[in-house]
This record gives sequence, structure tokens and C-alpha cells, in this order.
Amino acid sequence: MFIKSVFRLSGGISHRGFSSSNVALQNKVKGRINAKKPIRIELEEGKSYLWCACGYSKNQPWCDGSHKTLKTKQTPLPFKASKTGQVSLCTCKQTNKEPYCDGTHKKKEVQDAVIE
Ligand code: FES
Repeated sequence: MFIKSVFRLSGGISHRGFSSSNVALQNKVKGRINAKKPIRIELEEGKSYLWCACGYSKNQPWCDGSHKTLKTKQTPLPFKASKTGQVSLCTCKQTNKEPYCDGTHKKKEVQDAVIE
């Protein structure tokens, strides 16, 4: 199992490129849809990671600092892997189990969204 080490508050972003379909899910403003399927990736036990929550990183699923440049309200989610193994990390940024995929990317709102 993996543990989130820090809580993160979700918030809206107000700059251009924000799709209204991103806002609709769960009445919670989440990050930009970066991709419409998760990334399968190997995590290493005890290692800390910084998951991109804003959806603008060019190094998905990891934060590359774009949230600072673009002044998004989302901040990255730090977490630590409690064991080594493959996981599916969310790239649509609509998951309710951050940073892990919970299948939300399969929803019509996500699949129909235009990625800007
Ligand atoms: S680049 Fe997306 S949270 Fe930092």
C-alpha cells in the first residue's frame, strides 16, 4: 500500500486553456486533463515522489514546476511509496484517489474533453 504524506487542497485555475469539462466532475475543481488514460509506472519503496496535480507538467505524471509558471491553484502532491511495484498513476487529474487512477478517465466527460 502507498501513503499520501501531505494533504492537498483542490482549487480552480483561472488562466486560459482551462476546459469547463474539467470542472464538472465531483463538484471539485481539479487540474487540466493531461491525458485520458493512466500511466503505469514502477515505484520504489521508501522513495518520495511529487505527482503533478495541475495537469500542465510536460513530465507526467511528475511535477515539473509548470504550476508555478502558470500560477494554477493546484499544487503537486508529495507521496511516498511504501513498497516497490507497478502502479497506475492518474494523468487525467480527475481521480478521487490522488495520485492513483480510480477509473475516472473512463467517464464520458473525460473521454469527450478537448485537451488544449
Ligand atoms: S506542474 Fe502540475 S503540479 Fe506542478
